[in-house]
Amino acid sequence: MSTTARVFVVFGTRPEAIKLAPVVTALRQQHVPVTVCVTAQHRHMLDQVLPVFDITPDHDLNLMRPNQDLFDVTAGALLALREVMAAERPALVIVQGDTTTTFAAALAAFYLHIDVAHVEAGLRTRNKAAPFPEEINRRLTSSLADWHFAPTEWARANLAGEGVDPARVFVTGNTGIDALLTVARSLDHGHTGATLPAAMEAEIQHRRLILVTGHRRESFGVGFEQICRALAAIVDTHPDVAVVYPVHLNPNVQEPVYRILGNRPRLVLLPPLEYVPFVALMQRAELILTDSGGIQEEAPSLRKPVLVMRDTTERPEGVDAGVARLVGTDERRITETVALLLRDRDTYARMATGANPYGDGHAAGRIGALVAQILAGHTPAPH
Ligand code: UD1
Ligand code: UDP
Repeated sequence: MSTTARVFVVFGTRPEAIKLAPVVTALRQQHVPVTVCVTAQHRHMLDQVLPVFDITPDHDLNLMRPNQDLFDVTAGALLALREVMAAERPALVIVQGDTTTTFAAALAAFYLHIDVAHVEAGLRTRNKAAPFPEEINRRLTSSLADWHFAPTEWARANLAGEGVDPARVFVTGNTGIDALLTVARSLDHGHTGATLPAAMEAEIQHRRLILVTGHRRESFGVGFEQICRALAAIVDTHPDVAVVYPVHLNPNVQEPVYRILGNRPRLVLLPPLEYVPFVALMQRAELILTDSGGIQEEAPSLRKPVLVMRDTTERPEGVDAGVARLVGTDERRITETVALLLRDRDTYARMATGANPYGDGHAAGRIGALVAQILAGHTPAPH
């Protein structure tokens, strides 16, 4: 490897940080020089993740503004990244997933003639409106990327179908599972993940726990109103159930959730949780209701049935394996499916199998080894 062959890892949001942290560790294990740059498209929710994985960014672009829109983040990231990438001139830029940071960083690298590697490549809904704008962000990133680390064979096939050179696509597993299993193991070995205030702990103790998250832009407005009404109906009709909902900081989520669900018995609203306590809560949950990409992947590894509050998913592997179900944002569909799983132990058991189509916990190690070969000027053998 050339001594100047530096890798520039860029991320901006909570899920990118969780999924790229194992990659940064793996690159360091391969003795690859790494620069970490955060756009800070998220601020608090990003800063919650960094200490867990012992990451101190070399560059912090500090972009987040309250209630920012897509133009703000795209333009801000592109301009700020121009400066740092041009100054560093890395051999390779690594991005992850489908956020605005992902797309803008890939575009900035392309403008500067720097190669791009895309982690979690090849996910598709084939519906440009959902998830919005992530489906387009990931398609554009695939067009810009030179190397594609696909989590599954399905994702690899999507890229092949779009004409991406198969010699540049590698199935690695999803690095989010690496992060999850590391944290879950530390919890199994006595690391304490419980940080809920005593009053909330009392509210959920001895009850069947349903864990909820939600933040998708295409559900803002009517979708979120329906989701909130469904959650209210679930606690009203199941006295043995408590719902815990760490609410995303996006004001479009905060407003309806606190307005409709504030001050309800057995419905605990929380600020976003740090990753370790969040994993501990997933472990305690009987059921998970979410529209999150990452949680769709994590829940099956923890043997938790996951109901996906979306009409479509770029992660169909969980649905096909029977460990996830799409329930949309329709109030009745959500409440009826939750009621079925709470009542019917056979249906529940079929979903809580532990089958995990997304990874084996060694994705980042594979990516680290591939990147070391790429930097050394080799085209790695296909796998
Ligand atoms: C972003 C990503 C989405 C990803 C999600 C993960 C885009 C377009 N969207 O959506 O793909 O799934 O992150 O959570 O890239 N906020 C804070 N503090 C924070 C984070 C957010 O106050 O730490 C508030 C701010 O008011 C901010 C707003 O949330 O302006 C929206 O943040 P933004 O990153 O633009 O969108 P998300 O909905 O978080
Ligand atoms: N997560 C967390 N605290 C929370 C909610 C989620 O640490 O309060 C973690 C979760 O375990 C997963 C990631 O954040 O790894 C998912 O982030 P998010 O749902 O915001 O984004 P998405 O995956 O939909 O892009």
